[in-house]
Amino acid sequence: MPTGEIEIKVKTAKLLNSCKKLPFEIKDFVKKTEALRLQYRYLDLRSFQMQYNLRLRSQMVMKMREYLCNLHGFVDIETPTLFKRTPGGAKEFVIPSREPGKFYSLPQSPQQFKQLLMVGGLDRYFQVARCYRDEGSRPDRQPEFTQIDIEMSFVDQTGIRSLIEGLLQYSWPSDKDPVVVPFPSMTFAEALASYGTDKPDTRFGMKIVDISDVFRNTEIDFLQDALSKPQGSIKAIRIPDGIKYLKRKDIESITKFATDQCNQDVLPVFLKANRNWNSPVVKFIKAEQKSELIRLMGIQEDDVVLLTAGEHKKACSLLGKLRLECADLLEARGVLLRDPTLFSFLWVVDFPLFLPKEDNPGELESAHHPFTAPHTSDIHLLHAEPEKVRSQHYDLVLNGNEIGGGSIRIHDAKLQHYILATLLKEDVTLLSHLLQALECGAPPHGGIALGLDRLISLVTGAPSIRDVIAFPKSFRGHDLMSNAPDTIPPEELKPYHIQVSWPTHTEEEKGSLNHSYHPDS
Ligand code: AMO
Repeated sequence: MPTGEIEIKVKTAKLLNSCKKLPFEIKDFVKKTEALRLQYRYLDLRSFQMQYNLRLRSQMVMKMREYLCNLHGFVDIETPTLFKRTPGGAKEFVIPSREPGKFYSLPQSPQQFKQLLMVGGLDRYFQVARCYRDEGSRPDRQPEFTQIDIEMSFVDQTGIRSLIEGLLQYSWPSDKDPVVVPFPSMTFAEALASYGTDKPDTRFGMKIVDISDVFRNTEIDFLQDALSKPQGSIKAIRIPDGIKYLKRKDIESITKFATDQCNQDVLPVFLKANRNWNSPVVKFIKAEQKSELIRLMGIQEDDVVLLTAGEHKKACSLLGKLRLECADLLEARGVLLRDPTLFSFLWVVDFPLFLPKEDNPGELESAHHPFTAPHTSDIHLLHAEPEKVRSQHYDLVLNGNEIGGGSIRIHDAKLQHYILATLLKEDVTLLSHLLQALECGAPPHGGIALGLDRLISLVTGAPSIRDVIAFPKSFRGHDLMSNAPDTIPPEELKPYHIQVSWPTHTEEEKGSLNHSYHPDS
């Protein structure tokens, strides 16, 4: 033991097994690539950090079960993982069946089942649920992940929020500062306007300020141009002491980032707020505009102001990204903006019920999922102006990460049918079981799902959710240890009526595939 408290005097020793030379030493300071760690995951799991992460995960889940089942009367219920394709939401994994042309799908979440459980009178459901989404892997995404999935009958938003606040408070590790409740909340519109995102990191300022009024009578063409368009605006963020910390190449990289990420009409301008106001457009900014800007943004000598003009949402979302880029740059120079020991929870509420489809902006898609209820005060807009309807959807954000999302559901079959068929243009026959269930006296209900992997990775300070999952998939969704997904001999595919048509490559393509292809490059 590290304390030396127990010493063992060996009388006899029997060798139970031998150990060959390991591919890497099990020492935390020994650097190894993530691919190697994933290939030999069973060895990587011996590291102090992985042991700590997985043990802490287990303890928190144990406390959550205790809180939900023992203290709040929840019932832990398993729901199927062989399900069928459902409309909307993330892409699903498809599972062949022995019936020709028929497939199961792996559920992206137990959403429909948990609502059906409410109809079935199991009024407080929870599950540590596996979910499957066939979407690209990112540091905070896995194709297979875990939710703490919750649903309740006769509940409103406040009820769900206080349950989750209590749950996190109860399960929070005792060696960390206690969780303070209630969590603050912000509307989606406010989050977008002040932070340029629906998941703001509220540990630091540098908020977006609307400075359109300062430039109503400007001579600067691109500002004038932006203001004359619908929803046109001018926005800015202030980087405190930016002049001290940001080098010329940083400013260049920020500009490049902005042009690469956004289209032409959203460009940053740098106003160095010292005596020189160093910026290409500075000679066109009048003295009174400068002083108004200083007043509005609280600009101090040595600050840098990043200014952009364009459509409200686009301008905010660009500045939201630049705010985080600048935070990275400042932190690289030793300025502490995002204290890793601080946990800043935030509820984001009043999302729009629908958003224009990314690939076809003339059509609508659900901002959360199609079972989310409209805001009671906006129901009258559903027929004439559905895009203006707010929803009863809420997200839980922790330090700029979405760690949970849920909503109060539609329990009226007619309203659900109207939203699915008329507004979302979905094939309602795929959901006839749910629509029928809603007709059978479904109680009002609502729920939420916490992304367990994301939550634990933030609590442990892990750089990726892969570090809190025993056997995660790689960036490209592969299991580098066993080599899944793998091929299956044609005769084993026969019962499923499946034939693989291999992509044909030219000789040249084959050559480049052989050279450059690595499953996780
Ligand atoms: P949603 O899709 O918002 O809601 O998911 C809830 C939470 O799950 C986590 N999450 C993920 N974690 C890891 N990898 C992924 N690919 C991934 N996708 C999502 C996030 C997210 O906040 N059925 C609804 C919940 C409800 O309405 O009750 C749902 O799944 O932390």
